[in-house]
Amino acid sequence: MSEIAERLKPNLEILAEDEPKLIRRVYEDLFEHHPRAAELFAEHSRAVRGEMLREALMLAIDHADGATWVEENLTSLGDQHEVNGVTNEMYSWFVDSLLRVFADLSGREWCAELEGSWRTVLEQISDLMLTADQRAAS
Ligand code: HEM
Repeated sequence: MSEIAERLKPNLEILAEDEPKLIRRVYEDLFEHHPRAAELFAEHSRAVRGEMLREALMLAIDHADGATWVEENLTSLGDQHEVNGVTNEMYSWFVDSLLRVFADLSGREWCAELEGSWRTVLEQISDLMLTADQRAAS
């Protein structure tokens, strides 16, 4: 396993011990800071939020571990998201919310290395989701 995946996996296990809480806190944080994100999710079932979070974290770890199939997956997910009105700035909103909640729920386990590793991987997967049009606009 890559060094970065080795660092993130045990932290993810701690975070996922109470998965409903993790999901609730991430979207509460995102919607509180960015009501526009809440509008995007309003028309979808609540189950979508949990699915999205689980999938994002799985893809992040697999990407950190060098799985190349992840890139193809992210490209088509990204196309779907653009059609649904997700803009590039929203990816950084999501990453910032994840990091705030991870820090809070990890307690004393949290450290600068963990924060840096999560940020790197989450920004990489966000970047892979951006379409060519979105990249050109940034
Ligand atoms: C790391 C980046 C992201 C990943 C890997 C990701 C992944 C996913 C996945 C797998 C789904 C489908 C869930 C299901 O239908 O069961 C989904 C849905 C959705 N995502 Fe994301 N997402 C990301 C970022 C974002 C961001 C930044 C926003 C907006 C703030 C967003 C908004 C939505 C919305 C509104 C849906 C429901 C509509 C749909 O099914 O396409 N996503 N996401």
